[in-house]
Amino acid sequence: MNPNLKRYINTQYQEKFNEKPIIVCSPGRINLIGEHTDYNEGFVFPAAIDKGIVTAIEKSQTELCTIYASDLDEILSFSLGDVQPIPNGNWRNFILGVVGELQKLHIEVKPFNMVFGGDLPKGAGLSSSAALENSVVYGLNTLFNLKLSKSQMILISQKAEHNYVGVRCGIMDQYASMFGEEDHALLLDCRYQKATSYKIDFKDYELMLINSNVSHNLVDAEYNDRRLVCEHVAKLLNVPFLRDVNEDMLLQVKSQLSESDYQKALYVVQENQRVIELGKALENNDLQALGGLLYKAHHGAQHQFKISCKELDFLVEETKKHSEILGARMMGGGFGGCTINIIKKSAVTDYSNHISKTYQDTFGINCTIHTVKLSQGTHIIEL
Ligand code: GLA
Repeated sequence: MNPNLKRYINTQYQEKFNEKPIIVCSPGRINLIGEHTDYNEGFVFPAAIDKGIVTAIEKSQTELCTIYASDLDEILSFSLGDVQPIPNGNWRNFILGVVGELQKLHIEVKPFNMVFGGDLPKGAGLSSSAALENSVVYGLNTLFNLKLSKSQMILISQKAEHNYVGVRCGIMDQYASMFGEEDHALLLDCRYQKATSYKIDFKDYELMLINSNVSHNLVDAEYNDRRLVCEHVAKLLNVPFLRDVNEDMLLQVKSQLSESDYQKALYVVQENQRVIELGKALENNDLQALGGLLYKAHHGAQHQFKISCKELDFLVEETKKHSEILGARMMGGGFGGCTINIIKKSAVTDYSNHISKTYQDTFGINCTIHTVKLSQGTHIIEL
């Protein structure tokens, strides 16, 4: 993660609170494949990246917790005796959520101060929220010697999101941000929360993210709605989750489902299969196969699960005209954010210029391009 950012957050903390803090780096994540499969107890293939949130944290000398969001120049002060979600509280709820969930477990924290900032584009589907939650729980765990394992910490982060933010997310983002490894992606089995790491050699290629810079309204509602559809189909089939379903089983209840719900469930079943297939392809470091799977996954997200939007579809479609790109798809929860692309290193500059212009001409807005590296999960650094 950016060394200047680490130094800046450290300095800001010392200026505000006149003390040397603990510094936590908590990365965002990409996801190679496996979208909306995590809350179906299925499979995903994420990785932590070299962009994220840096948090400086130390004990407070007063009864209050004071949190400074450096990028936004906003402050939150609260007492540990009064921790509850704030309506439209935005970033505040991620922090209050972690503290509130610790308290629910009768895990005692004392007043603390914190400064945080990051280099993840917000709303881009790179999980700035999970990165922030993880940095808080990791920081508090260290500060107050709570002896929580990483597996326990990510469940607290996830609960914060459910209960304080209102998104019934799966475990992928928190897992990837916490457990990420340099140069590796993680094939995560969300039922058992166990991952196999795959070292990926991108050879002449690299990962490029293209941020559509659109973030549609009602994303959270759409997200929760998808989850309800999946739960409904699983219930009809009398199984706990869609993880337990195959295409034949789905056919048996097809007549009891709307076409739209059938397609959504079918997407989840097929997306799980794609994740497993990618695992096999990566054993041979087969980047062509990776590219092909990305296109298939986008097709499913666009036409079956219906979580794409015209801007993302355009960004994916355009890549098909360029042989230097092996594959692309929308990434994350959907309805905006980034596409993930596997592109030849030598083509990055030309393609960036090309897509920036074409996208601007078509939609009247800029797209933003990021190349990312697979990196280590949440950790403490010494400065
Ligand atoms: C969001 C959620 C994740 C996951 C993805 C879609 O990022 O937080 O749990 O469901 O969407 O794959």
